[in-house]
Amino acid sequence: MIRSVVRGFGASLPKRVMTNSEMEEKVDTSDEWIVQRTGIRQRHIAGEGETTASLGEAAARAALDKAGLTAADLDVIIVATSTPDNTFPATAVNIQNRLGMHHGAAFDVQAVCSGFIYAVATADAYIRGGLARRVLVIGAETFSRILDWNDRTTCVLFGDGAGAIVLEAQEGSGTTADRGVLTAQLRSDGAHKEKLYVDGGPSTTGTVGHLRMEGREVFKHAVGMITDVIEAAFDATGTTAEDLDWLVPHQANRRIIDGSARKLGIPLDKVVVTVDLHGNTSAASIPLALNVAASDGRIKEGDLVLLEAMGGGFTWGSVLLRW
Ligand SMILES: CC(C)(COP(=O)(O)OP(=O)(O)OC[C@H]1O[C@@H](n2cnc3c(N)ncnc32)[C@H](O)[C@@H]1OP(=O)(O)O)[C@@H](O)C(=O)NCCC(=O)NCCS
Repeated sequence: MIRSVVRGFGASLPKRVMTNSEMEEKVDTSDEWIVQRTGIRQRHIAGEGETTASLGEAAARAALDKAGLTAADLDVIIVATSTPDNTFPATAVNIQNRLGMHHGAAFDVQAVCSGFIYAVATADAYIRGGLARRVLVIGAETFSRILDWNDRTTCVLFGDGAGAIVLEAQEGSGTTADRGVLTAQLRSDGAHKEKLYVDGGPSTTGTVGHLRMEGREVFKHAVGMITDVIEAAFDATGTTAEDLDWLVPHQANRRIIDGSARKLGIPLDKVVVTVDLHGNTSAASIPLALNVAASDGRIKEGDLVLLEAMGGGFTWGSVLLRW
């Protein structure tokens, strides 16, 4: 059986760090409120010349280096983003060109904060279906550029960055002892689209628009949706919370992360948390967190790792993989 195995990983963050005390100068908020409600202490904000494509390119180069590969070795690039450099073409083709790759295929997927989960699931389907042997999967965002910087209920929550992994086809035995993606569970329900959205777009206002969110409504649904797709991943593979080495959740809010882990009986010392450092970087948050925990030696080859996310749409999903 063909498995999609992580061969390399990398990340890139804008140079500029913005602390909560700097937020206090912009809107009526406090470090104490932000930390207590969200766990966020700082975020990176893209400066002049830093874009979703430039951050994605840097993350891609780091992941290719780690894999010992070049763009010539890739078949497909998939970028998860809701903040593309342009309405079209896809940020993926922009990054493809920046990497000097002129073969294969590159395209974006748009599932907001669940984008990286959707992109990994898509890459895994391409690899298992024999359409590609190596897929570069990138989550890259510059949410700072769609925030309403006068709205304290949203602007304190988000940050910019990019992360990437290289997935490669390898032969497995078909058991959960295999390295690679073991299952992906995807869900969406557009009935919730007004709870977290951007109030502009090419076909409606002709503008880019700003992020709007009913935070309390999102919070209300988050833990239930996350635990649903995690339990589905356990059911699909015959694994349990006890088998997990690491939970690498989407980094939106410390209270959502802790609440989901508690509900599933996953000890907090098995949960990778980077929301304090990065804020919510939407589709970039999981690969950024993977990069931190794999670089500092926490995630090791052979570890069972569960990824999960929930976001605008609503969309939600999980990926269980052996690193
Ligand atoms: C946004 C969020 C942190 C707000 O926390 P909360 O406990 O729900 O807070 P509420 O929205 O009930 O607001 C409580 C009070 O804090 C105020 N407040 C909101 N933002 C504030 C800020 N940045 N600083 C200070 N006060 C703030 C509100 O105005 C409200 O004041 P009021 O009681 O006088 O009306 C929380 O709802 C949340 O995390 N939601 C999920 C968001 C998320 O993760 N989205 C991304 C999903 S991908």
